[in-house]
Amino acid sequence: MNLLLLLHWTLLISSLFFTSAIAKNFDSHPNFPCKPPHFTSYPFCNTSLSITQRAQSLVSLLTLSEKIGQLSNTAGSVPRLGIPPYEWWSESLHGIADNGPGVSFNGSVSAATAFPQVIVSAASFNRTLWYEIGSAVSVEARAMYNAGQAGLTFWAPNINVFRDPRWGRGQETPGEDPTVVSEYGVEFVKGFQERRKKKVLRRRFGYVDDDDDGKLMVSACCKHFTAYDLEKWGNFTRYDFNAVVTEQDMEDTYQPPFQSCIRDGKASCLMCSYNAVNGVPACAREDLLTKARVEWGFKGYITSDCDAVGTIFDYQGYTNSPEEAVAIAIKAGVDINCGTYMLRNTKSAIEKGMVSKEQLDRALLNLFVVQLRLGLFDGNPREGRYGKLGSSDICSSGHRKLALEAARQGIVLLKNDHKLLPLNKNRVSSLAIVGPMANNISNMGGTYTGKPCQRKTLFTELLQYVKKTSYASGCSDVSCDSSSGFGEAVAIAKGADFVIVVAGLDLTQETEDKDRVSLSLPGKQKDLVSSIAAVSKKPVILVLTGGGPVDVSFAKTNPKIGSIIWIGYPGETGGQALAEIIFGDFNPGGRLPMTWYPESFAKVPMSDMHMRANSSRGYPGRTYRFYTGPQVYEFGTGLSYTKFDYKIISAPSKLILSEKLLPQPSHKKLLLQNGEEEELRYLQLDDSSVNSCVSLRFNVRVRVTNTGDIHGSHVLMLYSKMPPVLSGVPEKQLIGFDRVHVGSNEIVETVFVIDPCKDLTVANDVGKRVIALGNHVLFLGDLQHSLSLEF
Ligand SMILES: *[C@@H]1O[C@H](CO)[C@@H](O)[C@H](O)[C@H]1NC(C)=O
Ligand SMILES: *[C@@H]1O[C@H](CO)[C@@H](O)[C@H](O)[C@H]1NC(C)=O
Ligand SMILES: *[C@@H]1O[C@H](CO)[C@@H](O)[C@H](O)[C@H]1NC(C)=O
Ligand SMILES: *[C@@H]1O[C@H](CO)[C@@H](O)[C@H](O)[C@H]1NC(C)=O
Ligand SMILES: *[C@@H]1O[C@H](CO)[C@@H](O)[C@H](O)[C@H]1NC(C)=O
Ligand SMILES: *[C@@H]1O[C@H](CO)[C@@H](O)[C@H](O)[C@H]1NC(C)=O
Repeated sequence: MNLLLLLHWTLLISSLFFTSAIAKNFDSHPNFPCKPPHFTSYPFCNTSLSITQRAQSLVSLLTLSEKIGQLSNTAGSVPRLGIPPYEWWSESLHGIADNGPGVSFNGSVSAATAFPQVIVSAASFNRTLWYEIGSAVSVEARAMYNAGQAGLTFWAPNINVFRDPRWGRGQETPGEDPTVVSEYGVEFVKGFQERRKKKVLRRRFGYVDDDDDGKLMVSACCKHFTAYDLEKWGNFTRYDFNAVVTEQDMEDTYQPPFQSCIRDGKASCLMCSYNAVNGVPACAREDLLTKARVEWGFKGYITSDCDAVGTIFDYQGYTNSPEEAVAIAIKAGVDINCGTYMLRNTKSAIEKGMVSKEQLDRALLNLFVVQLRLGLFDGNPREGRYGKLGSSDICSSGHRKLALEAARQGIVLLKNDHKLLPLNKNRVSSLAIVGPMANNISNMGGTYTGKPCQRKTLFTELLQYVKKTSYASGCSDVSCDSSSGFGEAVAIAKGADFVIVVAGLDLTQETEDKDRVSLSLPGKQKDLVSSIAAVSKKPVILVLTGGGPVDVSFAKTNPKIGSIIWIGYPGETGGQALAEIIFGDFNPGGRLPMTWYPESFAKVPMSDMHMRANSSRGYPGRTYRFYTGPQVYEFGTGLSYTKFDYKIISAPSKLILSEKLLPQPSHKKLLLQNGEEEELRYLQLDDSSVNSCVSLRFNVRVRVTNTGDIHGSHVLMLYSKMPPVLSGVPEKQLIGFDRVHVGSNEIVETVFVIDPCKDLTVANDVGKRVIALGNHVLFLGDLQHSLSLEF
């Protein structure tokens, strides 16, 4: 059976289940575990006991078939213990979304704040913003849960590195840099999961880690573990793809976001992906899942992506039977399966002796512990800590303002010849807007958008600034197969004072299960843009939509295209943010979180997971860290209406790594290179040396001056380039970023804290971190600073 059909079928079944659950939940006697008067006396309801004790007690009370009933996203009820069904699958990538059966918008809540797609918020490079988005979404999540329209377990964020520009879900990620992706993940997860009280404490006294028995406001999930970033390309699908990944790339590109999400973000869920990693399906990679628990300290539940246990047998052909697929996944550490595969095959796997009772109980324990941490067994949710959150907490003015703020901060100005922008709203007599997306609300948020609170198009918002604004789509849709609409668009462009052309991508071009094959604008869009530019009175403003980069070299070099603005998928307030930027009410400061490659990059097999270039086979490498070919726009590109100057005020020029600082085990692993000279070129670190490296941390103190007459926010990006001590050293890598607000003619200072054992290292070919000796160069804009590492 086609997997998609299967998925839809599963979805249908689960929504049916869930709807009946809602119906029961939603009347005047909401259904919840441990409900008085009959169901309060079980030890799992006793809040004086520890969460582990309560979970263990619950597991011990269940029969085998009741246990198996828990192994699906639509977990079964246990009526004799007063436990209602629970739907694990809710979505919250950039606002509450109804992609999973856990969320519905057809009750008293009919909309939720639709924040910009993640790639746009990422472009703000603002950690506070990321945290606050996570926090706002969690409030709406709890409020929707109280209304019976959402669960408490959400499957976001997507923290796979945006490795290939064609990836249909690159838009869902924080971009291509592992450090940025890691930091986004940590902020979002903390903002999302942390209990409110804790957040307030954090605000007032700095971060307080009162573990609180691990209580959660809602649960976040780091997905998709791991090396997942191909949907459907060439002969490959995500279901059968085997990602062949080197140890080196695994250690310093694919795994860091997951390590951070778990270790620093303390996410309570990990989702394993469809693809295989070096021949073994990700949900069967016992070594990787164990590493997450043992080395990274993961405490939570592991879910498969939807039907990713089934794909182990059906698509990957990795086992000889469905039971074996179930057994291998449970043994590897998977606790729950999205879909019905484990419901259907676990009993038989147990009968055949493939799954032990202990393994099954471990899975249940992990699941119940998370439910207990969420307070699901603490009685009536309406009387609990978050019981008062309701519809007035959803689409609140604060949240909508935050969504607007995210769009403002994330939008990237790519070109602005002769200061075409900002336009002076008092001097623009008429405006023409061209492009199929300019007056279409449907794709404003990208994938995983729920029901936005308000629906306003780009055109509607621009109309607020200039009354005489006309619109023509030019192309009937984004595929733009015909030029029959060009005439009308050219006509309104000719007649207008200023022209804005909206081009780029929507979800018909890039989405889940769909990668692009080309990096050019779809269909005849390029011709549309050029025809409009040719006839308009003044240079046109080109607005680009979409999460994936597009090769717009033609527009970059065309003098009749004065400005280019990337808005990605800016969410429900994106139109207002764009209008504010065009008319100078907001000074743009976003930076591209991914490299924009030329069309020629589309020759590179998407299935090739190597990050590093390899000239012997003409492979150009990927992302700004390793790609050396031509670029349309570089990672980090982004202009402002003002100008910023930098000065490095202080930074060390020499760092001595003494034997005392690096502990004995790593000392023994010193590597001697260069044949007879035996010159020491790098030191290999191990986990203990990484910790003891804390004393080596140093500060880079930087001064930023806004030399223009418009205030604005600026993203400082500090890179380092290490000496080429081994093969696969990056071209450069981001080691610090900070978004600062600087008033016109004002000066702001900021400090980067650099951890040499993290920031100045690279993975070697067996996936061990090494710190390079010799001359490292730090880059900040045009400034360079040399730092010598000696032993
Ligand atoms: C809850 O557990 C505590 C600690 O074991 C115990 O003292 C108490 O009696 C229990 N309460 C109920 C209602 O069983
Ligand atoms: C919600 O939508 C589902 C279908 O998606 C429908 O079956 C159900 O009746 C609706 N519930 C309400 C309360 O309207
Ligand atoms: C897809 O498979 C066909 C037949 O095996 C092969 O000729 C073709 O090169 C493959 N395409 C890609 C992109 O790998
Ligand atoms: C908006 O875009 C979507 C997706 O491309 C398309 O299905 C829909 O028809 C468009 N709506 C209008 C009014 O053009
Ligand atoms: C580069 O590619 C060639 C040909 O596939 C291969 O033999 C070689 O090992 C590769 N080099 C590196 C550093 O991966
Ligand atoms: C970062 O985001 C927060 C939250 O929106 C905002 O208050 C702050 O001004 C932003 N910082 C900068 C420098 O733009």
